[in-house]
Amino acid sequence: MSFDLSICCMGAGYVGGPTMAVIAKNCPNIRVCVVDLNAKQIDAWNSAELPIYEPGLKEVVESCRGKNLFFSTSIESEIALADIVFISVNTPTKTQGIGAGRAANIKNCELCARTIAKVATTNKIVVEKSTVPVRTADAVRRVLACNDKGLEFQVLSNPEFLAEGTAIDDLEKPSRVLIGGEETPGGQAAIAKLVSVYANWVPSSQIITTNLWSSELSKLVANAFLAQRVSSINSISALCESTGADVSEISRAIGSDPRIGPRFLQSSVGFGGSCFQKDILNLVYLCETFGLDECAEYWHQVIKMNDYQKSRFTQKMVSRMFNTATGKKIAILGFAFKKDTGDTRETASAFVCRDLMQEKARLHVYDPQVKREQMMIEFDYTLNVNTTTEPDLEKLITTETDVYKACEGAHAIAVLTEWDEFKGLDYERIYKGMSKPAFVFDGRNVVDIKTLREIGFEVYAIGKPWPKE
Ligand code: UDX
Ligand code: ADP
Repeated sequence: MSFDLSICCMGAGYVGGPTMAVIAKNCPNIRVCVVDLNAKQIDAWNSAELPIYEPGLKEVVESCRGKNLFFSTSIESEIALADIVFISVNTPTKTQGIGAGRAANIKNCELCARTIAKVATTNKIVVEKSTVPVRTADAVRRVLACNDKGLEFQVLSNPEFLAEGTAIDDLEKPSRVLIGGEETPGGQAAIAKLVSVYANWVPSSQIITTNLWSSELSKLVANAFLAQRVSSINSISALCESTGADVSEISRAIGSDPRIGPRFLQSSVGFGGSCFQKDILNLVYLCETFGLDECAEYWHQVIKMNDYQKSRFTQKMVSRMFNTATGKKIAILGFAFKKDTGDTRETASAFVCRDLMQEKARLHVYDPQVKREQMMIEFDYTLNVNTTTEPDLEKLITTETDVYKACEGAHAIAVLTEWDEFKGLDYERIYKGMSKPAFVFDGRNVVDIKTLREIGFEVYAIGKPWPKE
């Protein structure tokens, strides 16, 4: 079959995979190929067990795979074939050098640009999909401009706003599609081309076009504003626990004001995910770079509040359990950074587990989508907790595939991800099997406090009044 257009996406991760699957589904005349350096990842995309869990994703992939959607490690030949190349690779926070701990490392983006420049034989539109520091497009454009073949590359910024767990819905019905490009005729033509791809299923009123830098900065600002809402309500949760106010009632009361709105006011043990912290740190770095120290400090506070929320939760757990968790079995319900995903990047659960491990608690972790191997990677990568830094790691962490087994004989349950199944557990059965007093610490406000207290549990939930010690 011949296609009208060919798209290649570099990076088959949480963003590249679902985004390209939805483009392929809505544009049968476009050939879409997702490439990655990681052959295991590509094999998984070509198998019955996709590398990421996302509701609805499997159906979309299976409906297009082999027709107009392909996954491949033939990076160079696929780039050569493409009219539009998306860059959707990971840009983790730098751990070393200038901007360490703040700036995003764009080496993967730069590498992609170098590969494109090397293998292209025709003009191409290069689209930044990865969240990148402002003016990355400039770096990409300069690398591309160094090609000695006289080719012309247009660089566009088209940040992704999907949230994990609802990615397919977000992609099918985006609140907006943002496309930034140069104000030159070439830039405007490239924008028009990309607009025409999205126009296959997105109403044109929802496609926003801007200059390159506004587009790049908007992504950081959107995530900073969202994270700020979570930190704001979390700061109030601490006050609620001390005063007798109830954070859910406050969310409802303030969220009814249309100027505030009801969404993203769910108090929690802390936000996680690959974007919020990284993007705010990027914003902070950007402000600092321009000498805007007050602005930097303002946004940095959102992260500090999140760190405080995570450590506050563990401290309260330990203090309620008679100031010691040593040797106690604690059932950890949920490890993913939110429900409906197996993603663990920056998950608050890992921070709570680390702090409990330092107390030498025995943790039995249950998460319907996260495997032990992934938990260990997260501990090591984000928290530097591994068998060298914590020789008892293998002993302190047991991973369970049965939630009731995780709770059997436990002194406490900590709910750290808001999986729906945690609402409907047989808590009578769980209570009978636990050590007494049986504690429940709900970091997500998913359990029915009243019912659990009637069963006999001592329940402490985030942002709900905690009785005085
Ligand atoms: C976020 C943005 O929402 C998305 O637009 C962007 O493209 C990527 O970053 P994501 O990180 O996938 O998406 O999930 P999101 O739903 O935003 O949740 C982030 C974290 O905040 C999670 O840990 C979640 O549990 C937490 N959260 C969210 C709360 O604690 N309370 C809330 O009310 C909302
Ligand atoms: P995101 O959440 O932004 O999608 P992921 O880490 O899930 O991030 O995915 C990024 C993917 O990009 C990984 O599968 C990684 O192997 C891939 N990748 C990184 N650098 C390159 C590159 N130069 N060429 C192709 N793929 C790359």
